[in-house]
Amino acid sequence: MPSLARLYNIDDLRLAAKRRLPKGIFEYVDRGTEGETSLRENRAAFERIRFLPRVLAETATRSLGTTLFGKTQLLPMAIAPMSPSGLLWHQGELALARAAASMGIPYTSPTESMTVLERVAGAGGRLWFQLYIWKDRRHAYELLQRVERAGYEALVVTVDTATIPNREFNSRNGFAMPIRPSIRAGLDVLRHPRWLFGVLGRYVMEEGLPKAANHPEGYRNAIFAEPPDDATRIAPDTTWDDVRDLRRKWNGPLIVKGILRADDAKKAVQLGADGIVVSNHGARNFDSAISSIDALPAIADAVGEKATVLLDSGIRRGSDIAKAIAHGAKAVLIGRAALYGLAVGGEAGARHALKLLASELDKTLGYAGCPNLSSLGRDLLVKK
Ligand SMILES: Cc1cc2nc3c(=O)[nH]c(=O)nc-3n(C[C@H](O)[C@H](O)[C@H](O)COP(=O)(O)O)c2cc1C
Repeated sequence: MPSLARLYNIDDLRLAAKRRLPKGIFEYVDRGTEGETSLRENRAAFERIRFLPRVLAETATRSLGTTLFGKTQLLPMAIAPMSPSGLLWHQGELALARAAASMGIPYTSPTESMTVLERVAGAGGRLWFQLYIWKDRRHAYELLQRVERAGYEALVVTVDTATIPNREFNSRNGFAMPIRPSIRAGLDVLRHPRWLFGVLGRYVMEEGLPKAANHPEGYRNAIFAEPPDDATRIAPDTTWDDVRDLRRKWNGPLIVKGILRADDAKKAVQLGADGIVVSNHGARNFDSAISSIDALPAIADAVGEKATVLLDSGIRRGSDIAKAIAHGAKAVLIGRAALYGLAVGGEAGARHALKLLASELDKTLGYAGCPNLSSLGRDLLVKK
């Protein structure tokens, strides 16, 4: 493992992850869709925003603490749902959950996890569960009951995946899901023996090929195989009625993830959502989507008082988190930034990524003249 202390920012972690992972897996994580316009825009939009810093503002003692869904935490972050994180590190989902717990922030366990949700619950800390509505709603609702029984605090329903994303490079690399064995993918894996033995080999020795662990009996397809039928595919006919039904069935905080329009945000809140995630899915779905940071102000203005507004997509620096909060988000979900850390050093690597972001956020507050997150406001920002 490279010394984490010499990896000074998320870009360093990204490059270290690139060396460690087979190309197909790295690109599955790192890249966008089609021409990657949205991926570039996610960064460009953050970079267009600058601070008008306030000086001599008594910021010697600073707090990054916030309250999310009635619970206080020391950092305004949660880990985004990302599947299959277990492909980057042996039992990567558990490692991410433990890293989050050690930093006192929620971990969002994805539907398409390689580690079963009941086992992730054992990692401790604050746990949210991300739900994709499956074509067969009965299976989705049974899953929901398991989530409740396992004690998850909040439900995050993802609503921005109306169709299968066009990730051309995955197909080119032979790493479209399910992964189809090919000479190209095989050579790629052989060139990365640390991953082959340290990740895939360990699964095979200990529990067999990684599977869609949360799926119902008979649908736990291995990563190289198709499920027996369409029942556990994301339902293309997901509508607001599903959000309404979920609200009836789930008593805890309900968070709707993948909203980019103020009218959709309002609708989610009218149907009883407690939170929304302003997100373009990290530019992994719709290549012509607006960046979430550009979409945020209108949404925060529309629902900011009535629901908890979260944001993700493109966060690579603590200053990005400050920009999101200044624009009206309460906290952010950390996506690839945590995965790069995970790929490099498991739990310790993911924690390193979170600590880097926290330290950068703290410095941003100091420079911007803010002793705490609630003093971040739009008056501190300008757009280039
Ligand atoms: C490898 C990977 C897998 C993901 N899987 C899911 C998923 O299963 N469900 C979901 O709602 N979002 C998923 N996402 C999107 C993230 O939750 C989040 O919206 C996105 O990563 C944020 O953008 P960022 O990575 O640029 O920070 C995934 C993202 C990545 C990178």
